[in-house]
Amino acid sequence: MVTRSISRLQQDFEGFQQLAALLLRWTGIRLPEGMQGMVLLTSRIQTLIAAKAMHSLRAYAAVLAPLRAGHPDREAFVSALSTHTTSFFRESVHFDALREAYHRAGDTFKVWSAACSSGAEAYSMAMTLESTRRAAGPDFRILATDVAEDVLLEGVRGTISEAMAQQIPARLRERYWTRSAGSEPQWTAGSAIRKNIRWSKVNLMDRSQYPREGTFDVIFCRNVLIYFEPETTQRIIEGLASRLKPGGLLILGHAESGAMTLGSYARLGSSVFRKPEQLRPGHSRRQPLLQELLRSAE
Ligand SMILES: C[S@@+](CC[C@H](N)C(=O)[O-])C[C@H]1O[C@@H](n2cnc3c(N)ncnc32)[C@H](O)[C@@H]1O
Repeated sequence: MVTRSISRLQQDFEGFQQLAALLLRWTGIRLPEGMQGMVLLTSRIQTLIAAKAMHSLRAYAAVLAPLRAGHPDREAFVSALSTHTTSFFRESVHFDALREAYHRAGDTFKVWSAACSSGAEAYSMAMTLESTRRAAGPDFRILATDVAEDVLLEGVRGTISEAMAQQIPARLRERYWTRSAGSEPQWTAGSAIRKNIRWSKVNLMDRSQYPREGTFDVIFCRNVLIYFEPETTQRIIEGLASRLKPGGLLILGHAESGAMTLGSYARLGSSVFRKPEQLRPGHSRRQPLLQELLRSAE
């Protein structure tokens, strides 16, 4: 029955194109073309369509199209089609770079986990910084954002499975997380790491949702740019770069930073970029960073 309804949905290429266009407009995510994209789309949204008792992608697209951001049906569609895979201390060298940057900080150290999914990245940052901080070390603040509300809520809850918890080094797990009793134990983040994380919905496509310019010492934007088109990636990088303080670090995922160069930024390792301490004379900070900073992927 399910197989039959899926294969019927998969004949609706016009509906596929309408839904793919909505996703692109709302999030920047481009679905693969042809049958590969169709299979991905239908497998991820079949329960949403079934819940609405609909029988075609076109009908579903017509319902979604007028919805504003924040409407539960639009949120469910966006979240179903975003890939939320994440893990603690993913690409661990980035947390070494974070620690080093913190050691150089004089004032409150501000970090942004942009596209944070359910928060493993932000909690890894918090554990790294909290365990590094000395008695007199500066405070730190972490902003964790994503376009999908359901994963943000998971981050706010701060409860993870035993399997996820095993990704955290034992010393940090024991210090910052509490294990529940029972046959299916879970781990909950303690206040020492929660207290410095603020959660917020930010769509990277919409610059008006970004925090103000020149705010952050370090920005992580990892494993999300791969879903965007090159022009979208460039626009986003330009926006993120303008939110860094001079000397701040922009950290991308290894898979998405390969051929990327950021103009006057120093490249520290394959996916860590440092903003110049001072802009060159004659360059205003408000100038489009695309020209000044970014020679995009070849
Ligand atoms: C694969 S996860 C990466 C999570 C984390 N950065 C990491 O590397 O482990 C990608 C995340 O990007 C989010 N995302 C996709 N499009 C976005 C957009 N336009 N704005 C903000 N977040 C977006 C998805 O919801 C998803 O949670």
